[in-house]
Amino acid sequence: MSKPTMKAVKSVVGQPLVLADIEKPSPGPEQILIRVGAAGVNRPDLIQRAGRYPPPPGAPETMGLEVAGTVESVGANVTQWKPGDRVCALLPGGGYAEHALAHAGSAMPIPEPLSMTEAAGLPETVLTVWNNAFEMGRLKAGETFLVHGGASGIGTTAIQMAVAWGAKVYATAGTDEKCRLCEKLGATKAINYKTEDFEAVMRAEGGVDVILDMVGAPYFDKNLTILKDLGRLCYIAFLQGSKVEGDLSRLMFKRLTITGSTLRIRTDAYKAKLAKDVVAHVWPMIKQGRFKPIISHVFPLGEADAAHARMDASDHAGKIILQVAT
Ligand SMILES: NC(=O)c1ccc[n+]([C@@H]2O[C@H](COP(=O)([O-])OP(=O)(O)OC[C@H]3O[C@@H](n4cnc5c(N)ncnc54)[C@H](OP(=O)(O)O)[C@@H]3O)[C@@H](O)[C@H]2O)c1
Repeated sequence: MSKPTMKAVKSVVGQPLVLADIEKPSPGPEQILIRVGAAGVNRPDLIQRAGRYPPPPGAPETMGLEVAGTVESVGANVTQWKPGDRVCALLPGGGYAEHALAHAGSAMPIPEPLSMTEAAGLPETVLTVWNNAFEMGRLKAGETFLVHGGASGIGTTAIQMAVAWGAKVYATAGTDEKCRLCEKLGATKAINYKTEDFEAVMRAEGGVDVILDMVGAPYFDKNLTILKDLGRLCYIAFLQGSKVEGDLSRLMFKRLTITGSTLRIRTDAYKAKLAKDVVAHVWPMIKQGRFKPIISHVFPLGEADAAHARMDASDHAGKIILQVAT
């Protein structure tokens, strides 16, 4: 008997993304099978597509790190979810498809009052920001927080979460329009790095306690310069280079901490703990209307190639979503 199939986006390096029929997966003992309503597009997907971010062992070959949808079936050991539950979930891959597998602990209820399309943009960004700025960066209420790439999916999430947490937030972005969005989301000031020097601005503002950085090399020493005593510099990416040059005396005299992490390679147990913490701390912010995912563009699943082109052009602000079902 032939195996059931589903539509999924297939990628071959250097070629346009296309929809193809592939085998529909079935859940392992600790997994759930999600009928996907919408899938989030993340910059790491573009890096994977270019062949520079291979899926970790055991992950699907197809792209897609987050979805929202309805649980269709559950594995033998899963007790917390049942068919029909509406969830959003962090995935090791495979989200650009009609069905996706998630570890049961990486799924979270869709928080009220969000739609499935909005919820699809939560898991990858919220868990990344929570892990890096709040856990590792130990951001506290009353502290000053600088987000580079403030208008990105990650940035729009980080600004709102930090403001809701009680931090004073600053951001950098590449256009005045993106800067206005960051300020609308609660940033005290957003700096257009193409026309202003963020180092000079932040010095004048009195310095920073925590920085979330995705830019890397050209910002390294400037970041060290503007951090206050006991400041924390948190890396989630290095879009403009990973080899850095800077003055280590700043690190010693100000007793700074530099951290970095990448979510995809972490264990299922760690992701389950992170998801629990996020539901406890961030879902109430959403319910109270203090944070919502900013959706820049929505494309049908079959137009994933256009969605990637839009992200590649970097003229979006917030999240790009693939609509899989209505
Ligand atoms: N460590 C982790 O676990 C983790 C998890 C998820 C994402 N990430 C990383 O976080 C970053 C943001 O992800 P995202 O999905 O939010 O992406 P995104 O929405 O595409 O945002 C990236 C933004 O970075 C800015 N940028 C600066 N230098 C750039 C360059 N050389 N090339 C392209 N963009 C540049 C652009 O904004 P401007 O126009 O304002 O410059 C762009 O909009 C990505 O680098 C991603 O790989 C890390």
